[in-house]
Amino acid sequence: MAFRTRITDLFGIRHPILLGGMHHLGQSGIVAAVVNAGAMGFITARSFESLEDLRADLRRCRELTQGKAFGVNLTLSRRPGANRHVPGWIEVALEEGVRHFESAGDSPERLVEAIHRGGGLLVHKCPSVRHAQSAARLGVDAIALVGCEEGGHPGANPLSAFVNGAFALEQIGLPLVLGGGIGSGRQIAAALALGADGVVMGSRFMVAREVRAHDALKQRIVDADQYCSTAILGSLGDTWRVLHNDAAREVHRLEAGGARSHAEFGDLILSSRTRQRVYEEGDVDGGIVSLGPAGGFADEIEPAARIVEKLVRDAALAASAFAGVMVAQ
Ligand SMILES: Cc1cc2nc3c(=O)[nH]c(=O)nc-3n(C[C@H](O)[C@H](O)[C@H](O)COP(=O)(O)O)c2cc1C
Repeated sequence: MAFRTRITDLFGIRHPILLGGMHHLGQSGIVAAVVNAGAMGFITARSFESLEDLRADLRRCRELTQGKAFGVNLTLSRRPGANRHVPGWIEVALEEGVRHFESAGDSPERLVEAIHRGGGLLVHKCPSVRHAQSAARLGVDAIALVGCEEGGHPGANPLSAFVNGAFALEQIGLPLVLGGGIGSGRQIAAALALGADGVVMGSRFMVAREVRAHDALKQRIVDADQYCSTAILGSLGDTWRVLHNDAAREVHRLEAGGARSHAEFGDLILSSRTRQRVYEEGDVDGGIVSLGPAGGFADEIEPAARIVEKLVRDAALAASAFAGVMVAQ
């Protein structure tokens, strides 16, 4: 069973599922696993310390996928000067044969031309219809629209994926995928029924065997339910949806105490701390972990291919049940 949409056609994939960028985790192992399972995944360029490390991982992914297309995530920053590595990421990716890109974090203005010149496609991920319209005007090839349930940085948008999506579908003509809180096949079927072309996911895949994070974290997510996440740093205008652990509670405490700049949180909110303490050492409460309520759907640590297979099977079941709801009068 497969679904055919403008996104499956655009990316040449079997299933309308994109695995979005995942800082420090979106590497060749998990990306190749979802690609080999018929979906699309994006290696997260900003996780690599150097262009040569990025190049080495792209080569590894190419070997693991045996020629199947995979993508690169270009996460932009609004901080002055912080995007100086981005042209290098694009150049290395194009040199290594990558043609699929996901951008996020800021306007894709300076990316579109370089990617198109190199024969690539760009899906821009953003949290509001207004941002999506601007990106469409800049010439991106598809939009990933995320709701406030998204694990990671959903922006200041207060709307859920499906409210956002229903409005966007009235206003955006490009292929459109929805993300945020999606962790089950039923929701994929619902997104397609709404008129979207697919979904972008992250949290549900955190428990995949191929994700290079400590099993203690994956087991915490398996044991968790839909209340596993919380939003931090909203008071700084930098909302971040994360695992509701001790580190997140400490951030809440500091915010309640009046902390209003990133520096006041010290290394508590640094991704280098998360990588070392949580992902490598398995101290699940020792750092901030991007995660949304979709993590609550995870019920075992398993290969990514099994997750994709279950999602597609359950989406097909939900779609056929839905088709049966329509009756001739
Ligand atoms: C651990 C983790 C790290 C993430 N890091 C990034 C990132 O670096 N860049 C990015 O564009 N999105 C990032 N995201 C967001 C995902 O790409 C995706 O948009 C999101 O997970 C979809 O929402 P969901 O988590 O509810 O499925 C991250 C998500 C998670 C769970």
